[in-house]
Amino acid sequence: MKTVVVTGGTDGMGAALARHYLRQGDDVTVVGRSQAKFDALVAALTTEGAPSIAERAHFIGADLSLIAESTGVVEQLKERYERIDVLILAASFIRQQRHVTAEGHEASWVLFFVSKYLFVTGLADLLVSADRPVIINTSVPGTKPGAIDFDDLESARTFSFARSNAQQRRANELLGILATRDPKVSYITWGPSRLVKTSFAGNVGPAMRWASALLAPLIGQEPDKAVQPLVALIADPPGGRSAYRGAKRAPLSEGPDDEHDISRLATSVRIADAGN
Ligand SMILES: NC(=O)c1ccc[n+]([C@@H]2O[C@H](COP(=O)([O-])OP(=O)(O)OC[C@H]3O[C@@H](n4cnc5c(N)ncnc54)[C@H](OP(=O)(O)O)[C@@H]3O)[C@@H](O)[C@H]2O)c1
Repeated sequence: MKTVVVTGGTDGMGAALARHYLRQGDDVTVVGRSQAKFDALVAALTTEGAPSIAERAHFIGADLSLIAESTGVVEQLKERYERIDVLILAASFIRQQRHVTAEGHEASWVLFFVSKYLFVTGLADLLVSADRPVIINTSVPGTKPGAIDFDDLESARTFSFARSNAQQRRANELLGILATRDPKVSYITWGPSRLVKTSFAGNVGPAMRWASALLAPLIGQEPDKAVQPLVALIADPPGGRSAYRGAKRAPLSEGPDDEHDISRLATSVRIADAGN
């Protein structure tokens, strides 16, 4: 039985993966904000007749745009498990405007990077205790090495959705350098090959809302189908750091300052975490 942790496992592709591993008989912890969505997921699997779901499906309620809650989840996972085989980072809440949390940090930067950093580094010992540990980070690969503004990581001076998105995607590719310091670990930044019919949780303007509402039903893939390439990668991990779009390998965007850049990001997270 594998131990699988899925952030954003109450909805969309995270929920599709949680369902898959629960059907397969694995132990799955879902992290999200909605206990009701988790209960519905478990109820549907129970109706299907999947065995011993109640003992294998766990929920941790947390707002991962808060550093303290992300750290708290990592601590709970360390108490619960001696080993994590699969860590799936799929929590998502799209914000087109800058939003500052109660902790005083920019919400998207924390949700899409700082929280993931805390999971990857905080759970490193549990991951290396697995035979073939895999980290899936649903951060679409393919940004430029210069996408991060180290003087304005939380976009206080200028915020644009495109810049914020590119910056967190680049940071998540760099996070793979730390994740794979132990060569046993596979770290995959992954995006679907095309639009997926998910909840598109977020606070977005009418153009994006309408585009997703109109396009997703027309051309979007079902989440259960979209995650099939991930299921294959998790079953036979490629090793080291890699990037995929659907089932197709994508180039990692590597630059000469990558080691320096990830150490600058690590310092920024330590400072932000210490300030809480
Ligand atoms: N859908 C697509 O076409 C597409 C395309 C490219 C990339 N992606 C990427 O794929 C990943 C999954 O996306 P999706 O579309 O499947 O997601 P989704 O359907 O919008 O679901 C988002 C998930 O994140 C959780 N979540 C949101 N805010 C949270 C918070 N503050 N703290 C904790 N959990 C939170 C939600 O849980 P609760 O509701 O319980 O809070 C839900 O489980 C994301 O990284 C996304 O960027 C998706």
